[in-house]
Amino acid sequence: MADRVDSPRVLNIADLRRLAKRRLPRVAFDYIDGGADGEVTLRENCRIFEDVLFRPRCAVSNPTCDLRTKVLGTELALPFALAPVGSSRMFYPRGEIVAAGAAGEAGTAYTLSTLSGCRVDEVRAGTKGPLWYQLYLVGGRDVASAGIERAKKAGASALFVTIDTAVAGLRERDFRNGTKELLTRNPWTMLPYVHQFLARPRWLAGFLGDGGLMNFPNVVLPDGPMSYADVGAALEQSTICWADLRWIREIWQGPLVIKGLMIGEDARRAVDEGADGVVVSNHGGRQLDCVYPTLRALPEVVAAVNGQCEVLLDGGIRRGTDIVKALCMGAQAVLVGRAYAYGLGAGGGAGVARAIQILRADLIRTLKLLGCPSTAQLDESYVTYPADWRSPAPQPAAYATTK
Ligand SMILES: Cc1cc2nc3c(=O)[nH]c(=O)nc-3n(C[C@H](O)[C@H](O)[C@H](O)COP(=O)(O)O)c2cc1C
Repeated sequence: MADRVDSPRVLNIADLRRLAKRRLPRVAFDYIDGGADGEVTLRENCRIFEDVLFRPRCAVSNPTCDLRTKVLGTELALPFALAPVGSSRMFYPRGEIVAAGAAGEAGTAYTLSTLSGCRVDEVRAGTKGPLWYQLYLVGGRDVASAGIERAKKAGASALFVTIDTAVAGLRERDFRNGTKELLTRNPWTMLPYVHQFLARPRWLAGFLGDGGLMNFPNVVLPDGPMSYADVGAALEQSTICWADLRWIREIWQGPLVIKGLMIGEDARRAVDEGADGVVVSNHGGRQLDCVYPTLRALPEVVAAVNGQCEVLLDGGIRRGTDIVKALCMGAQAVLVGRAYAYGLGAGGGAGVARAIQILRADLIRTLKLLGCPSTAQLDESYVTYPADWRSPAPQPAAYATTK
C-alpha cells in the first residue's frame, strides 16, 4: 500500500483526496468530502487561509526545527492531532485502529469519535500515542456515562465534548447517494444505489472481510451496541446543553475540551464550566452552513479566553502553512479531519502516515523559510491578516441559554 501513496504520485493532501475518490464508493467518499447545504463554509474554511500572509525573517539558519507542542499537559511531537471522524471503519477495515496507529507512530494523538466502528480499548491497544475520546450524548446520560467510564478505563487521556450538533446538518450529497436507503437493509430499496459498491470491488472485498456494515460498539444501549442507523435522529434526541457539561465535569476529572464553538461568549462559558480547552470548529462545514470559517473566528475566541484555557482549531487544514498560520494567530495546536480521512480512504494506515508526513515536512520547510526555530516561537509577528478580524463582534443583548 505504501508505494501507492509515495512521491511523486502523492505530493499533497489533494493527491490523497484524488486517490480516496478512486478507491471508495461514492457514498463513502462524499460522506468524507461533503458539507452542509451549499457547502459555503466547507469551501471558506480552506480558502480563508489565503487571506493570511507571511512576514518571513530571511538570512536566518535553523538547521533543526522543533515541532514539539504541549497540549492538555501532554507533549506531542507535532502541533497537530487527528480529529474525531465518525464511521472511519467504512473507509478502511478497522479504520479507527489503523488511523490511531499511524498517529502514534508519528508521536501525536488520535481522537476517537463516539460514533466509531472500533471499541475504545482496541483503539487504545493499537497506538503508542495519546488517545483522546470524543463524546456525543447519543443514548442519553446513562449510556454516555458508561462510555466515559470505558474510555477512562481504556486509558483515554482527554475528553472532547462536541457541542455543535443540535441536529445533523443537511448534507445533500448523502441524500443523493442513497445513504438512508442503503441503511434500510431492504434489497429493493437499496437496489438503485448498490452499483456504487460494485464499481469498487477492492473496497467491497475489504468491507465484507471486515464484517460488513459496522455498528457503534462504544454506544452500548440496554439491548447491546447501537446499530448503524440514522445518526441525525440520534443526535437530535441527545443535544448537549451547558447543564450537561457540569455533570460531565463531575464524572470526568481529566482534561476536558469543548469542541465546536465559534464565538467568544461560548468560549468564556466553556471556561466558566471548567473546560481545559476549546476547539474553534464548525465541524468542517458539515453543520451550520454560512457560519464563519474557523480561522476568521480564532482571534475573537483567543481574546475571549484570555489565556484561561488552551485554544485549538480545526477546519480546512490541508497544508502545513495552514497549521503555521493558525499557530501564529494563537492556536495552541490544530486538529486535522479530512486531511487524514482522505489518506485512510486512499490507502489505510500507509495513507494516514503519508498525510501526517506531508504536513510534517510542510511545517519544517515553512518554519525554515520563515526564519523561526520552533512552533513554540510562532506568534502574530510572522503573519498579517485583515484588521477587522480583531475587532470584537457585536455582543448579544442577553445571552440566550437553554438550561
Ligand atoms: C467524515 C467526517 C466525520 C466526522 N465525524 C465527527 C464525529 O464523529 N465527531 C466530531 O466531533 N466531529 C466529527 N467530524 C468533524 C471533525 O472532527 C473536524 O471538526 C473536521 O473534520 C475539521 O475539518 P477538516 O475536515 O476540514 O479538517 C467529522 C468530520 C468528517 C469529515
